[in-house]
Amino acid sequence: MNDLKEFLLNRRTIRKYSSEAVGDDLLDDLLKAACRTSTTGNMQVYSIIVTRNEEKKRELSPLHFNQKMVTEAPVLLTFCADFNRFNKWCVLNNASPGYDNFLSFMTAAIDALLAAQTVCIAAESRGLGICYLGTTTYMANKIIEVLKLPAGVVPVTTITLGWPAEHPQQPDRLPPEAVIHEEVYSDYSDSDIRKFYSEKEGREDSHQFIRENNKTTLAQVFTDVRYKKEDNVYFSKILLKVLEDQGFMNNV
Ligand SMILES: Cc1cc2nc3c(=O)[nH]c(=O)nc-3n(C[C@H](O)[C@H](O)[C@H](O)COP(=O)(O)O)c2cc1C
Repeated sequence: MNDLKEFLLNRRTIRKYSSEAVGDDLLDDLLKAACRTSTTGNMQVYSIIVTRNEEKKRELSPLHFNQKMVTEAPVLLTFCADFNRFNKWCVLNNASPGYDNFLSFMTAAIDALLAAQTVCIAAESRGLGICYLGTTTYMANKIIEVLKLPAGVVPVTTITLGWPAEHPQQPDRLPPEAVIHEEVYSDYSDSDIRKFYSEKEGREDSHQFIRENNKTTLAQVFTDVRYKKEDNVYFSKILLKVLEDQGFMNNV
């Protein structure tokens, strides 16, 4: 148990991988573990697309903003919210599916994300490195084309998987008391916020980040550079259209 605690506390994202392949048996183990994850109503309303083909990776690369891990990692896994399979089963069995709505998308997206996190923990426990790609939801419309996802299926996250070729410093985290509330939510005073973010703001890497981005505060690096409102609005519109096109907004 102590080992598990240490393992969970010591993990970090890996973005550089050696060229060594991830063996089929190992990958099978990870995917089997994913399929054992808790799932809404035991419906398993997700699918996992395995990408190992170099040409497919090159096709996907620009859709992940050319992040190098996409072509360098031996394996990409794209986790999709998927009611397509379940709907078909319902129809074949004289049952009328009512899953063409936003709640059902959320249900399936939660299932997919939980399965993804199982793969991550299982992979890291075997010495593999992983990196999530948030770009999947930004470019879901194009990823749908490349991975040939039918109606009822929406990609929600991707992970890159491979043997680590780096051992980066562990990034900071907020202190646990910043995110944990006892019984009810306890809203933050200005001084709580200052206290909880002070360690992050005081770090040399944060100062470097601010200088590199020509900003005066760390928060501005997020609001003005990394996660800008205009980008959020633009990609929200694309994602909402994806949900509509894939049949999840029919009853709202
Ligand atoms: C949903 C999600 C999307 C992410 N997207 C990216 C990404 O597109 N590129 C990247 O390099 N890292 C990505 N990450 C990794 C985070 O940057 C990383 O988890 C965070 O900086 C904390 O680092 P750690 O995992 O090493 O503790 C993502 C993580 C999550 C959970």
